[in-house]
Parts: sequence; structure tokens; C-alpha cells
Amino acid sequence: MPRENFGPDHVFLAKEEILSYEEMASVVASLLPLGLSKVRITGGEPLLRRDIHIFIGLLRDLDENLDIALTTNGVLLERHAETLFKNGLNRITVSLDALDSELFQSITDSKNTPHEIFKGIDFAQSIGLPVKVNCVIKKGVNESQIVPLTKACVERNIAVRFIEFMDVGTTNNWNLESVVSGKDMRTLLRNHFGPLEPIPAEHPSDVARLWRLVNGSTVGFIESVTKPSCGNCSRARLSAHGSIYTCLFSEQGFDLRGVLRFGANEQQIAEIIRDIWTHRDDRYSELRHQLKDSRQPVEMSFIGG
Ligand SMILES: C[S@@+](CC[C@H](N)C(=O)[O-])C[C@H]1O[C@@H](n2cnc3c(N)ncnc32)[C@H](O)[C@@H]1O
Repeated sequence: MPRENFGPDHVFLAKEEILSYEEMASVVASLLPLGLSKVRITGGEPLLRRDIHIFIGLLRDLDENLDIALTTNGVLLERHAETLFKNGLNRITVSLDALDSELFQSITDSKNTPHEIFKGIDFAQSIGLPVKVNCVIKKGVNESQIVPLTKACVERNIAVRFIEFMDVGTTNNWNLESVVSGKDMRTLLRNHFGPLEPIPAEHPSDVARLWRLVNGSTVGFIESVTKPSCGNCSRARLSAHGSIYTCLFSEQGFDLRGVLRFGANEQQIAEIIRDIWTHRDDRYSELRHQLKDSRQPVEMSFIGG
């Protein structure tokens, strides 16, 4: 959780308020018959949750074809990669916003280094766990990192995706001036690497649009601010305390924990989620400029990206 999201009086959730691994797995199980094919574990920092590999194993036991991904800051990756992989994790996304150590430490508010993060990434790749790198670019902060990060990832054969800085939550001091557009990022890359060629999307719901560098490597861009595409979004988010959110920018979720603990079976849970999903009308990214500043959307550290 970023420092600005909690003060000295912050009250953490009690253990019983958080969904157990079994409860989370039963939500996933209930969605499989409705066509769920992909689950991403995020946070907060998922590798801080004790025995996270057991949860991966529970998910894998539900369906051998389920695509299971995890997003992490990478600090504990080297320690956990092997057990996660053995228990059925398909892939990892590592957030890395700078290659320069000082800048990395100031962005992450930590004493970690990009070198440590790359050790985890290299180890994960060496055991066969595919890795992608996500990098959020903020104007005046880390545009300088676009070219070096691309080089470092291309050298390692890692897919890198640059993300436009988004206004999730209320505490990240977002304004439109702090956004570097995907278009401007590509101009920087073009000046360094030569022409870029767009690659057609495989699925409309893919959030990243891929471009090919002249050497054949690909770079992705997540342009949710300048190119919102709410109609194609197929992501429902389940919070640690058991609410379903139908949009990254939601102010409120729908409580599932009560239903789960009241003894609902998987078919009943599926019906409830189907109802929530078919009635959703979120189009925040498309309506961002018309909506009021008084909105209180949940924080990124809560909803997980
Ligand atoms: C909130 S993090 C949580 C998971 C994990 N702790 C990590 O660091 O990757 C999930 C993703 O959200 C992205 N993210 C965080 N703040 C963002 C913002 N304001 N705009 C766009 N993406 C953001 C991060 O780059 C990361 O890939």
C-alpha cells in the first residue's frame, strides 16, 4: 500500500474479514461454467499473502486449462517463483517503473533496486515461468526510462508494456497533464529504435496494443486514458474482503462474502454474479471528462489494477 493510503490510525482488516483461499476458489469455480478462462491475482502485493502457492494450487485443481496470472512488484519473486510455478501458475507480470536505482527507489518508496527485481525476473524465466514487465509512465517522472527499460527487456526477451498513468482512487495526484500518451511514448521509441509497426489485436478485450520494433521485438501500450475502450472490458474484480467490482474506477462493490458465508452454493453464486455483470453500465474511462470531481473511487492498492 502506498504511504499516502494509510496513516498512523489505519485499521487493517481482521483475518476473518478477509476471504479465505477456499472462499476465493469457490467464487472462481462458480464462474467457470459461465466461461471464465483467466484469473489474475493482484493486490496490494500478492506475494505477501502467506502460502499464496496453496491458493494457486486450489485454482489449478479446479481446471487444468484455466489461465492463472499474477501481478507483483517482484521483490519476493526469486523466493516464491518455483513453488508458484510448481503449483500451476502460468505467468507473472512484474511492475517496474524505472531502471535507474535512485528513481526506482523514489517511485517505489523503498530501498529495493531494479537489479534485485531483475534477479527475480531472470530466475522466473530460467525455470520456465513466462514474465511480462509493466511500466507506468508519469510525465516529469520517468519518461527517461522508456528507452532503457525497452532495451533491458528486449535483451532478456521479456514483453514490456507501457501504461498511461491513470486516475484510479483519489490519492495519486492525477491530472491530465501528468499523463504521457501512448502516442508520445511511441515517438520516443521511434526516435531511438526506428519505425514501429502496429500488430492487430488477437481479442478485442486485450488491454495492451502491441507494436513491433524493426528488430522484430514487440512493445505493448495500455492507453486507457487516451484510447478508452470500456465496451470491450471483460474484467470483474474480487476484493480481499469479498466484494465484486465491475470497473477499475468503481466507488462501490457488491458484497459476495455475506452470500458465501450464508452458505450459497456455486450455482447460486454464479447466478448472483451473472446478474451483477449483465446489469453493469460502467463506462468511467469513456466518461472521465464529464464526471464530477466528488467521486470517491476505490484506491489502486485496494482494487489491484
Ligand atoms: C496496483 S499494482 C498491484 C500489484 C503489485 N503490488 C504490483 O506492484 O504490481 C497492479 C498494477 O497496477 C499498475 N498501476 C498502479 N498505479 C497505476 C496508475 N495510476 N495508472 C496505471 N496503472 C497503475 C501497476 O503498474 C501494476 O502493474
